[in-house]
Amino acid sequence: MLVIEANLATRGFASCVVGHTQSYDHASMPGRLHGARGFRRAVASDAPQLVMLVRSAYRGSVSRQGWTSEADLVGGDRIDEGQVLDLIERAGSVLLLLDEGDGVLACCHLEDRGDGVAFFGTFAVEPRQQGRGVGRRVMAEAEERAKDAFGAGAMEMTVLAQQEALIRWYERLGFRRTGETRRFPADARHAIPRRDGLYFVVLRKYLNDERPRQ
Ligand SMILES: CC(C)(COP(=O)(O)OP(=O)(O)OC[C@H]1O[C@@H](n2cnc3c(N)ncnc32)[C@H](O)[C@@H]1OP(=O)(O)O)[C@@H](O)C(=O)NCCC(=O)NCCS
Repeated sequence: MLVIEANLATRGFASCVVGHTQSYDHASMPGRLHGARGFRRAVASDAPQLVMLVRSAYRGSVSRQGWTSEADLVGGDRIDEGQVLDLIERAGSVLLLLDEGDGVLACCHLEDRGDGVAFFGTFAVEPRQQGRGVGRRVMAEAEERAKDAFGAGAMEMTVLAQQEALIRWYERLGFRRTGETRRFPADARHAIPRRDGLYFVVLRKYLNDERPRQ
């Protein structure tokens, strides 16, 4: 048995996969990791699936099967393949995915913003699988990776202020409002407001606090 650490040498990430105990270099062996079960960094060939996942979770008609759909708040397609590839490939950026054997189930993005802050975003769970604890697992993994990879002591994100249930959940996970707000949309090519008054609030969590309640 078999669980195990793939040592993603490029930025020192650890990833759990099922298989034989072995070390992998993410940069030189993406094919070995691609298709492995568990959490892993996305590679370029994951991009089409990730686009579908993010679009369906945020705003597509399927998003209404989840509990946080923003389909009534925002139009537009949220993300394109070029943007996903950029998140995968650019320095200081990690696109993390969870694959439990049936394709990409969930993802999130981490970016090193310097000064010990990791920015968290592009967070999506397949809509029909939401509300079963997957998002909480992804968040816990992201926090560990932000600490390991960037030496982060804090994680920040922006959330639409109108997504009140979602913000309450993040608060249960240990995030707090910083009081800062940001303009919406951040990218007018992929987000068309469907009502007036949309804006982002900034949330922050200090990573060395006690873990959130389970
Ligand atoms: C946000 C998201 C990633 C969460 O993933 P998830 O797998 O549903 O998360 P979990 O199942 O771990 O947790 C869901 C939480 O919401 C609660 N919840 C479930 N249905 C709910 C509902 N209808 N209303 C309010 N809360 C609800 C659950 O009780 C759980 O809370 P708990 O962890 O305190 O028990 C997922 O909903 C998603 O992909 N949303 C679309 C994209 C998005 O909005 N991303 C975030 C942008 S900031």
